[in-house]
Amino acid sequence: MATGEVHSQCAGYTLPVPNVQRLATSLDKSSQIPERYVRPEAEVNVIARTSEIELPVIDLAKLIHPEFSKEEAAKLHLTCQEWSFFQLVNHGVPEELTEGLKADTVEFFNKPLEEKMAYKQDNDGTLQGYGQAFVLSEEQKLDWCDMFYVMTRPTAFRNMKFWPTSPSTFRDNIDRYSLELTKLASCLWQYIARNLGVAPEVFVQLFKDHPQGMRFNYYPPCPEADKVIGISPHSDATGFSILLQINDEQGLQIRKDGEWIAVNALPNALIVNLGDVTEVLSNGIYKSIEHRATINTETTRISLVAFHGPDNLDMLQPLPEVVGDGKPNYGSMSYQEFMKAYFEKKLEGKSILDMLKILIRN
Ligand code: OGA
Ligand code: NI
Repeated sequence: MATGEVHSQCAGYTLPVPNVQRLATSLDKSSQIPERYVRPEAEVNVIARTSEIELPVIDLAKLIHPEFSKEEAAKLHLTCQEWSFFQLVNHGVPEELTEGLKADTVEFFNKPLEEKMAYKQDNDGTLQGYGQAFVLSEEQKLDWCDMFYVMTRPTAFRNMKFWPTSPSTFRDNIDRYSLELTKLASCLWQYIARNLGVAPEVFVQLFKDHPQGMRFNYYPPCPEADKVIGISPHSDATGFSILLQINDEQGLQIRKDGEWIAVNALPNALIVNLGDVTEVLSNGIYKSIEHRATINTETTRISLVAFHGPDNLDMLQPLPEVVGDGKPNYGSMSYQEFMKAYFEKKLEGKSILDMLKILIRN
C-alpha cells in the first residue's frame, strides 16, 4: 500500500465530543452526569465472578522452550478455542520499558487540556490523535473515556505530528514498545498458525508488514459510575490485540457464555485477545471475544491497547487450509470493505461479523 494512503487498520471518522477528563473534574460526588453518558444497560449485567473462574495464563517462555513447547502450545490452542483471551506472562518485553511507557502515558494525560489538544484528531480519516472514536451521530450515547490513537507500524504510516514531544522519552518508548510487540506478535502468529494446521509461512505472508495501531484509553472516575460505560461492548476488528494496564486499576470485562466477567490482570502480564479477522480466518475455530470497560467512582484507569492486523489481505474469508473439505462458516468480503463497515458503525458487540455470517445464509 502506498505511503500516504489511509491504512484500512485505522480508517474512520468520528464526531467531536466533550473531553471526559475535563468533564469528570468539573463534577463533585453529588453531581448528576449529562444524559448522553447515562447507559441503562450498564447497571443490570455486572457479574464479576473472577473468584470462581481462573483466567487463562499463557507462559511465553514455556511456549518457546523446546521441552515445554508442545504442552504450552496445546494449552494455547484450547485457550483460543474456549476463551479467545489470555494473559501472557514471561513475554520478554523489558519491564524497564513498560514502566517507562506507563510513566510517560500518565504524565501525558496529566498535562493541561490545551497542551494535549495540540495533538487532537484532525478528521483526516485515520482517527489518529487525541479525541474519541466511533461517535457517528449526535444522539448516540457516549463512552466515559478519552482516547489517544497513533498508527505505529508500518513505520512509513507514522504521522509524527500526533506523537507527543513531551514527556521527552514518550516517542522513543512508544517506538521501542511497538517493536517489542511486533516481535511478540510474529512469534505468537507462528504458534497460532501451527495450532490451526496452517503453515506458519501463510501467516507470515498475511501479517508481513505488521500493521499496528496503539490506542491509549483514559477512563476518569465518575460520581455515577454504575450508570456509565468506559468503552462499549465490542470485539476488536484486528488479528489480535495486546493490552497493557498503565496503572493498577482494573476495569476490563469480557463476555463469556453470555456473562460479563471481570478481568483482574496479573501485575506484569500482557492481555491478549483475538479479533474478528482471526475469527474469520480460522473459520470460527477461534472466536473474537466481546469486551468492555467499566468505571469506578474514585480512581482513574488508563490502558494501552495495541491492535495487530493483517496487511497482505485482499479478501477476508476463512483460510482454505483451515476449511479443508469442510464448509466455510463465513462469507467473503474485501478487507477494505470490512474495515470500512467496522468504523462506520458505533461499537456494538459483534454486529459486523454477524453480517458476514448472514452473507453465507443468503
Ligand atoms: C479497546 C479496549 C479495553 C480497556 O481499546 O479496544 O477494548 O480495558 N479497551 O481499555
Ligand atoms: Ni477492544
